[in-house]
Amino acid sequence: MLNIILFGPPGSGKGTQAQYLKEKYQLIHLSTGDLLREEIQSKTALGLEAQAYMDRGELVPDAVVIGMIRTKLETNQSCGGIIFDGFPRTVKQAEALDELLGNFGSPIRRVVSIRVDEAELVRRLLERGKTSQRADDQNEEIIHNRIKEYWNKTAPVAEHYEKQGKLAEVNGVGSIDSIFSDICSSIDA
Ligand code: AP5
Repeated sequence: MLNIILFGPPGSGKGTQAQYLKEKYQLIHLSTGDLLREEIQSKTALGLEAQAYMDRGELVPDAVVIGMIRTKLETNQSCGGIIFDGFPRTVKQAEALDELLGNFGSPIRRVVSIRVDEAELVRRLLERGKTSQRADDQNEEIIHNRIKEYWNKTAPVAEHYEKQGKLAEVNGVGSIDSIFSDICSSIDA
Protein backbone atom coordinates (compact mmCIF):
# COMPACT_ATOMS: atom_id res chain seq x y z
CA MET A 1 0.00 0.00 0.00
CA LEU A 2 1.16 3.53 -0.78
CA ASN A 3 0.27 5.44 2.37
CA ILE A 4 1.01 9.16 2.25
CA ILE A 5 0.46 12.01 4.70
CA LEU A 6 -0.20 15.49 3.31
CA PHE A 7 0.98 17.80 6.04
CA GLY A 8 0.73 21.56 6.47
CA PRO A 9 -1.13 24.44 8.10
CA PRO A 10 -4.79 25.28 7.40
CA GLY A 11 -5.11 26.57 3.84
CA SER A 12 -1.78 25.17 2.63
CA GLY A 13 -3.55 23.16 -0.09
CA LYS A 14 -3.72 19.65 1.39
CA GLY A 15 -7.29 19.01 0.25
CA THR A 16 -6.69 20.55 -3.18
CA GLN A 17 -3.60 18.44 -3.86
CA ALA A 18 -5.19 15.27 -2.42
CA GLN A 19 -7.84 15.39 -5.18
CA TYR A 20 -5.12 15.16 -7.87
CA LEU A 21 -2.97 12.64 -6.01
CA LYS A 22 -5.84 10.22 -5.47
CA GLU A 23 -6.42 10.09 -9.24
CA LYS A 24 -2.77 9.70 -10.20
CA TYR A 25 -1.88 7.02 -7.64
CA GLN A 26 -5.35 5.42 -7.29
CA LEU A 27 -5.57 6.09 -3.56
CA ILE A 28 -8.33 6.63 -1.05
CA HIS A 29 -8.50 10.17 0.37
CA LEU A 30 -9.13 10.37 4.12
CA SER A 31 -9.69 13.90 5.42
CA THR A 32 -10.51 14.08 9.13
CA GLY A 33 -11.94 17.58 8.60
CA ASP A 34 -14.39 16.24 5.99
CA LEU A 35 -15.28 13.23 8.16
CA LEU A 36 -15.97 15.51 11.14
CA ARG A 37 -18.12 17.85 9.02
CA GLU A 38 -20.14 14.80 7.83
CA GLU A 39 -20.70 13.82 11.48
CA ILE A 40 -21.86 17.39 12.26
CA GLN A 41 -24.19 17.37 9.24
CA SER A 42 -25.70 14.06 10.41
CA LYS A 43 -26.05 15.47 13.94
CA THR A 44 -24.36 12.44 15.53
CA ALA A 45 -23.09 12.52 19.14
CA LEU A 46 -19.53 12.62 17.79
CA GLY A 47 -20.43 15.53 15.51
CA LEU A 48 -22.02 17.49 18.35
CA GLU A 49 -18.93 16.98 20.49
CA ALA A 50 -16.58 18.02 17.65
CA GLN A 51 -18.52 21.09 16.56
CA ALA A 52 -17.73 23.20 19.63
CA TYR A 53 -13.99 22.68 19.10
CA MET A 54 -14.14 23.31 15.34
CA ASP A 55 -16.18 26.50 15.80
CA ARG A 56 -13.39 27.87 18.01
CA GLY A 57 -10.64 26.78 15.63
CA GLU A 58 -9.29 24.29 18.16
CA LEU A 59 -8.29 20.69 17.60
CA VAL A 60 -10.89 18.03 18.42
CA PRO A 61 -9.70 15.64 21.20
CA ASP A 62 -7.29 12.92 20.05
CA ALA A 63 -9.51 10.03 21.19
CA VAL A 64 -12.35 11.20 18.92
CA VAL A 65 -10.29 11.44 15.72
CA ILE A 66 -8.17 8.35 16.41
CA GLY A 67 -11.36 6.30 16.90
CA MET A 68 -12.74 7.65 13.62
CA ILE A 69 -9.56 6.79 11.68
CA ARG A 70 -9.36 3.31 13.24
CA THR A 71 -12.84 2.52 11.91
CA LYS A 72 -11.92 3.81 8.43
CA LEU A 73 -8.70 1.76 8.30
CA GLU A 74 -10.51 -1.40 9.31
CA THR A 75 -12.91 -1.00 6.39
CA ASN A 76 -10.29 -0.02 3.75
CA GLN A 77 -7.76 -2.82 3.98
CA SER A 78 -7.93 -3.93 0.36
CA CYS A 79 -7.22 -0.53 -1.25
CA GLY A 80 -3.98 0.46 -2.99
CA GLY A 81 -3.14 3.07 -0.38
CA ILE A 82 -4.41 6.07 1.54
CA ILE A 83 -3.75 9.81 1.48
CA PHE A 84 -4.14 11.17 4.99
CA ASP A 85 -5.20 14.84 4.86
CA GLY A 86 -5.37 16.72 8.16
CA PHE A 87 -4.34 13.66 10.18
CA PRO A 88 -2.22 13.14 12.23
CA ARG A 89 -2.33 16.57 13.88
CA THR A 90 -0.65 15.75 17.20
CA VAL A 91 2.27 13.51 18.10
CA LYS A 92 -0.20 11.26 19.96
CA GLN A 93 -2.23 10.86 16.74
CA ALA A 94 0.97 10.09 14.80
CA GLU A 95 1.95 7.38 17.28
CA ALA A 96 -1.54 5.88 17.10
CA LEU A 97 -1.45 5.91 13.28
CA ASP A 98 1.99 4.26 13.20
CA GLU A 99 0.67 1.53 15.48
CA LEU A 100 -2.53 0.98 13.50
CA LEU A 101 -0.71 0.82 10.15
CA GLY A 102 1.97 -1.39 11.71
CA ASN A 103 -0.73 -3.88 12.65
CA PHE A 104 -1.83 -3.94 9.00
CA GLY A 105 1.79 -4.26 7.75
CA SER A 106 1.58 -1.11 5.61
CA PRO A 107 3.38 1.83 7.23
CA ILE A 108 3.47 5.45 6.06
CA ARG A 109 5.75 5.74 3.00
CA ARG A 110 6.10 9.53 2.72
CA VAL A 111 5.04 12.66 4.61
CA VAL A 112 4.86 15.69 2.33
CA SER A 113 4.92 18.98 4.22
CA ILE A 114 3.48 21.92 2.25
CA ARG A 115 5.03 25.26 3.23
CA VAL A 116 2.96 28.47 2.87
CA ASP A 117 3.49 31.79 4.69
CA GLU A 118 0.86 32.94 7.18
CA ALA A 119 -0.34 35.99 5.21
CA GLU A 120 -1.12 33.78 2.20
CA LEU A 121 -2.91 31.19 4.40
CA VAL A 122 -5.17 33.89 5.87
CA ARG A 123 -5.82 35.38 2.43
CA ARG A 124 -6.83 31.98 0.96
CA LEU A 125 -9.10 31.01 3.85
CA LEU A 126 -10.88 34.38 4.02
CA GLU A 127 -11.35 34.22 0.26
CA ARG A 128 -12.91 30.75 0.49
CA GLY A 129 -15.01 31.94 3.45
CA LYS A 130 -16.83 34.37 1.14
CA THR A 131 -18.55 31.47 -0.63
CA SER A 132 -18.05 28.30 1.46
CA GLN A 133 -20.38 27.13 4.19
CA ARG A 134 -17.43 26.79 6.56
CA ALA A 135 -17.93 29.07 9.57
CA ASP A 136 -14.27 28.61 10.55
CA ASP A 137 -13.21 30.35 7.29
CA GLN A 138 -15.32 33.43 7.89
CA ASN A 139 -13.69 34.95 10.96
CA GLU A 140 -10.07 36.10 10.93
CA GLU A 141 -9.65 35.50 14.67
CA ILE A 142 -10.70 31.85 14.29
CA ILE A 143 -8.36 31.46 11.30
CA HIS A 144 -5.46 32.76 13.41
CA ASN A 145 -6.45 30.35 16.17
CA ARG A 146 -6.35 27.41 13.71
CA ILE A 147 -2.87 28.50 12.64
CA LYS A 148 -1.80 28.87 16.27
CA GLU A 149 -3.05 25.33 17.02
CA TYR A 150 -0.99 24.15 14.05
CA TRP A 151 2.24 25.68 15.39
CA ASN A 152 1.62 24.58 18.99
CA LYS A 153 0.34 21.05 18.48
CA THR A 154 0.78 19.93 14.87
CA ALA A 155 4.20 21.21 13.77
CA PRO A 156 5.99 18.73 16.14
CA VAL A 157 4.50 15.88 14.06
CA ALA A 158 6.96 16.82 11.26
CA GLU A 159 9.88 16.08 13.57
CA HIS A 160 8.29 12.72 14.48
CA TYR A 161 8.43 11.68 10.81
CA GLU A 162 11.76 13.37 10.09
CA LYS A 163 13.31 11.02 12.66
CA GLN A 164 11.88 8.14 10.59
CA GLY A 165 13.44 9.59 7.39
CA LYS A 166 10.00 10.04 5.79
CA LEU A 167 9.61 13.83 5.66
CA ALA A 168 9.80 15.83 2.42
CA GLU A 169 9.07 19.56 2.10
CA VAL A 170 7.58 21.39 -0.86
CA ASN A 171 6.93 25.07 -1.49
CA GLY A 172 3.13 25.49 -1.45
CA VAL A 173 3.01 28.95 -3.05
CA GLY A 174 2.60 29.01 -6.82
CA SER A 175 0.40 27.27 -9.35
CA ILE A 176 -1.53 24.17 -8.25
CA ASP A 177 0.04 22.25 -11.18
CA SER A 178 3.62 23.07 -10.27
CA ILE A 179 3.04 22.23 -6.59
CA PHE A 180 1.42 18.94 -7.66
CA SER A 181 4.46 18.13 -9.78
CA ASP A 182 6.82 18.81 -6.82
CA ILE A 183 4.70 16.62 -4.53
CA CYS A 184 4.75 13.76 -7.08
CA SER A 185 8.55 14.06 -7.37
CA SER A 186 8.91 13.76 -3.61
CA ILE A 187 6.62 10.72 -3.53
CA ASP A 188 8.38 9.00 -6.44
CA ALA A 189 11.89 9.72 -5.11
P1 AP5 B 1 -9.67 20.71 8.18
O1 AP5 B 1 -10.93 20.49 7.47
O2 AP5 B 1 -8.59 19.72 8.08
O3 AP5 B 1 -9.19 22.14 7.75
P2 AP5 B 1 -7.76 22.84 7.78
O4 AP5 B 1 -6.58 22.01 7.64
O5 AP5 B 1 -7.81 23.71 9.01
O6 AP5 B 1 -7.86 23.70 6.52
P3 AP5 B 1 -8.20 23.15 5.07
O7 AP5 B 1 -8.42 21.72 5.03
O8 AP5 B 1 -9.32 23.96 4.64
O9 AP5 B 1 -6.81 23.50 4.36
P4 AP5 B 1 -6.06 22.67 3.23
O10 AP5 B 1 -4.63 22.65 3.60
O11 AP5 B 1 -6.74 21.39 2.91
O12 AP5 B 1 -6.22 23.68 2.01
P5 AP5 B 1 -7.27 23.59 0.78
O13 AP5 B 1 -6.76 22.67 -0.26
O14 AP5 B 1 -8.62 23.35 1.34
O15 AP5 B 1 -9.95 20.93 9.76
C1 AP5 B 1 -11.00 21.73 10.22
C2 AP5 B 1 -11.13 21.54 11.73
O16 AP5 B 1 -11.47 20.16 12.03
C3 AP5 B 1 -9.87 21.79 12.56
O17 AP5 B 1 -9.72 23.16 12.88
C4 AP5 B 1 -10.13 20.94 13.80
O18 AP5 B 1 -11.02 21.57 14.65
C5 AP5 B 1 -10.83 19.71 13.21
N1 AP5 B 1 -9.89 18.63 12.84
C6 AP5 B 1 -9.66 18.12 11.60
N2 AP5 B 1 -8.76 17.13 11.64
C7 AP5 B 1 -8.40 17.00 12.95
C8 AP5 B 1 -7.49 16.17 13.64
N3 AP5 B 1 -6.75 15.25 12.99
N4 AP5 B 1 -7.36 16.32 14.98
C9 AP5 B 1 -8.09 17.22 15.66
N5 AP5 B 1 -8.98 18.06 15.07
C10 AP5 B 1 -9.12 17.95 13.72
O19 AP5 B 1 -7.11 25.07 0.20
C11 AP5 B 1 -7.57 26.19 0.95
C12 AP5 B 1 -7.99 27.27 -0.08
O20 AP5 B 1 -6.82 27.68 -0.81
C13 AP5 B 1 -8.99 26.78 -1.12
O21 AP5 B 1 -9.90 27.79 -1.39
C14 AP5 B 1 -8.12 26.46 -2.35
O22 AP5 B 1 -8.84 26.61 -3.56
C15 AP5 B 1 -7.02 27.49 -2.21
N6 AP5 B 1 -5.74 27.01 -2.78
C16 AP5 B 1 -5.21 25.77 -2.72
N7 AP5 B 1 -4.01 25.72 -3.32
C17 AP5 B 1 -3.77 26.98 -3.79
C18 AP5 B 1 -2.68 27.57 -4.50
N8 AP5 B 1 -1.61 26.88 -4.89
N9 AP5 B 1 -2.76 28.89 -4.80
C19 AP5 B 1 -3.85 29.64 -4.42
N10 AP5 B 1 -4.92 29.13 -3.75
C20 AP5 B 1 -4.88 27.81 -3.43
